[in-house]
Amino acid sequence: MTARTFRLVYTNCRCDLRKRGEVALSGDGPGLVTLCLVCGIVGYVGHRSALDVVLDGLRRLEYRGYDSAGVAVLDGDGGLAVERKAGRLTNLEARLDEVGRDAFTGTAGMGHTRWATHGAPIDRNSHPHCDVTGRVAVVHNGIIENFAALRAELEAVGVEMASDTDTETTAHLIARAYDEGDTKGDLEASVRTVVRRLEGAFTLVVTHADHPDVVVAARRSSPLVVGVGEGETFVASDVSAFIEHTREAVELGQDQVVVIDRDGYRVTDFDGADAQAKPFTVNWDLSAAEKGGHEYFMLKEIEEQPEALANTLRGHFRDGRVVLDEQRLSDQDLRDVDKVFVVACGSAYHSGLVAKYAIEHWTRLPVEVELASEFRYRDPVLDRDTLVVAVSQSGETADTLEAVRHARSQKARVLAVCNTNGAQIPRESDAVLYTHAGPEIGVASTKAFLAQIAANYLVGLALAQARGTKYPDEVAQEFHQLEAMADAVQKVLGTIDQVRALGRELADSKAVLFLGRHVGYPVALEGALKLKELAYMHAEGFAAGELKHGPIALIEEGLPVVVIMPSPKGRAVLHSKLVSNISEIQARGARTIVIAEEGDETVRPFADHLIEIPAVPTLLQPLISTVPLQVLAAEIARSRGYDVDKPRNLAKSVTVE
Ligand code: F6R
Repeated sequence: MTARTFRLVYTNCRCDLRKRGEVALSGDGPGLVTLCLVCGIVGYVGHRSALDVVLDGLRRLEYRGYDSAGVAVLDGDGGLAVERKAGRLTNLEARLDEVGRDAFTGTAGMGHTRWATHGAPIDRNSHPHCDVTGRVAVVHNGIIENFAALRAELEAVGVEMASDTDTETTAHLIARAYDEGDTKGDLEASVRTVVRRLEGAFTLVVTHADHPDVVVAARRSSPLVVGVGEGETFVASDVSAFIEHTREAVELGQDQVVVIDRDGYRVTDFDGADAQAKPFTVNWDLSAAEKGGHEYFMLKEIEEQPEALANTLRGHFRDGRVVLDEQRLSDQDLRDVDKVFVVACGSAYHSGLVAKYAIEHWTRLPVEVELASEFRYRDPVLDRDTLVVAVSQSGETADTLEAVRHARSQKARVLAVCNTNGAQIPRESDAVLYTHAGPEIGVASTKAFLAQIAANYLVGLALAQARGTKYPDEVAQEFHQLEAMADAVQKVLGTIDQVRALGRELADSKAVLFLGRHVGYPVALEGALKLKELAYMHAEGFAAGELKHGPIALIEEGLPVVVIMPSPKGRAVLHSKLVSNISEIQARGARTIVIAEEGDETVRPFADHLIEIPAVPTLLQPLISTVPLQVLAAEIARSRGYDVDKPRNLAKSVTVE
């Protein structure tokens, strides 16, 4: 591919690339297209330094993507200062130190942190993007699907693009709408005119040098919340960006435009009619989103798991009955269910695999657990008596959202299990059960995963209760055993130091295998996923019984194999089968790391390393056996010098299929 260089003329823009007047496009066509699909956005109008507020907000949103970062600040004097830089936020901060922060003293502005999918995450594709005069700046989260047509239209009238992005087209279109016709001089109307033309999912935040006291934002599908403070107002992808300043928030609805200024906000629809948005008060504080003295967020979140479990279960057992949250499904609906699907991705999918054992056992309903990305492409058999449980921490995952849409189009009833208030998946579902794990900042899921298992179990108990497959006292007993797991997890956290030491020993390994049976099998899958994503190490989870059908060929001298042992008192047959499996792999030279119940003496001779966990009912063991695997993966990653909270190539919410 050849690089083409264009010379551009900009009259009043402080955006560095434009000042230099050069941009490069790869290839002969419009260039590689870089789309911004997850991304964190923050906008501010108030009385503080917008640069400081925005940079602080971006720091907390960096989990959404860290391919580039950028800011735009209105100086109140008709100037708009823009700076952006590929890589992490620290690169942008270094760049600001280099160029000086004098142009960034205003009290209104916005910023962006990006997760790129297609094309290079390089400076010129970083947000904000400006129009040719540099008076309009735009940051964007989402995809503008018809951007090629819009770009061609702009190029036909002589606009030269400075980036390979879809976003840049909106800056030019807004500038043109602002300069001519009915919307001349009206920024809000100009934004509305343009967003009406856009196809796809997007959040746009827009500033204009002529309007130093306002920031305008528009939302379709991608998340956006407003924060209302004293003499200051915020917009952001999520509340963690402004929680330090206010807990009063407003959740924007679909296809809404919001204008914020120092005194508050005004919401309209894309046609300009006044619209309602949903106010709420955030019930966690900044410390919940800070590391709280831990080396990294993931470790803090691992330690928060007892609380996450307790909070998820709290209030769900009243007057002798299990109750779900926004239960828009009646008991009759639950009685009519003849099949359950769990659809989810990654760790959330593993939470569904765990729940299958419990839900089938308690309800005698068939449960299929399906990767959301596969679900709608294979024509699953769905009808109004199918209950689809869509599990998602973020509530934004595109694969899961599309699975929800497909299920609903087939008349199935959808219950969302979600950790994020008001996210798209619960909004589009028939009912929602919120996990209350609190904000999960580490990209690898930990406390949300445990909370998902607990919530899925609540769904199973609610079904069993409505259908009468369990007596009320049995439902109560299962619920109280589930509640008691917070203490058991707390106890397991006491082994963290031992597991971290083991992690350091294993840091140079080339690969690690994980084995389990029954509910230990999805735990093995989860342990392997954690290790892959954090330590970039080859890791596989297997059903231990499958070993002899192929994977045993992988065993060689010194290969670490983690085995999740079931209780010897629970399903004795499972236990004895696994003991045989460990002896087989140990005989072939594997280094065995065994997670087993306290007092399980039978495994001791086969364990090169033994991690003991408390005795709990079989179906609940995943809630504790997962914990050492999380710690192990994090410590191996840390020992190998990797960023535990922000593994390469990953983002916290994946809003692309
Ligand atoms: C792994 C992890 C991912 C997510 C998956 C689904 O540690 O975090 O596998 O579980 O991307 O995300 P949500 O739950 O937000 O739909």
